[in-house]
Amino acid sequence: MKIFKIAALSAVFAAQFALAQFKQTPLPYAYNALEGNIDAQTMEIHYSKHAAAYVANFNKAIAGTPQEKQTLFQILSKAGTLPMAVRNNAGGHYNHELFWTVLTPEKNTQPSAKLAKAINDTFGSMEAFKEKMAKAGADRFGSGWAWLSVDKNGKLFVSSTPNQDNPLMDVVEEKGTPIFGIDVWEHAYYLKYQNKRADYLTAIWNVTNWKEISRRYDEALSKK
Ligand SMILES: [Fe+2]
Repeated sequence: MKIFKIAALSAVFAAQFALAQFKQTPLPYAYNALEGNIDAQTMEIHYSKHAAAYVANFNKAIAGTPQEKQTLFQILSKAGTLPMAVRNNAGGHYNHELFWTVLTPEKNTQPSAKLAKAINDTFGSMEAFKEKMAKAGADRFGSGWAWLSVDKNGKLFVSSTPNQDNPLMDVVEEKGTPIFGIDVWEHAYYLKYQNKRADYLTAIWNVTNWKEISRRYDEALSKK
């Protein structure tokens, strides 16, 4: 009887595991690695609770549907035709997976010469770009994201999306491949910054991973 129970439980576990198509990648640094700019408690709750819930709910929302066998990019590209639970949680999963990688405890990472030139050519200067990005984040009413993306012509642009939408989705006005994103949901900053979202948007530049953003820039251009 006991053996049957174990076998049955194993089968249930295996079935659940098999359905868990999408997974979080491990955080590439410790929860406290960005302390001073993003506190350890915020990082821990953000990664292990909020982002974990997005991927769990995403897997639940696509279980038994054709999306279960599709890539995240395929799903995002037609998010507007899918149930809200898929759109919100697929976006939540993609956005957070990107977010962890574009932050780093490494000090003073620099954009590649190619990306630095594109930023200067597009926005006038690095400072002007940062101001535009901060404004996109500050002006987002409620929850959402500020993005730096590459459009279909290989041009950089800054945009903002509500909730967990992103520039890869069919539902957004300004479409492209995001190479940098700032989470402006209160869960990303409230414990340390409370209502001062602008201070969080200033501090983020101290932990921005320009190496990864440059890598994503090259990757986005190579797909054009
Ligand atoms: Fe978040």
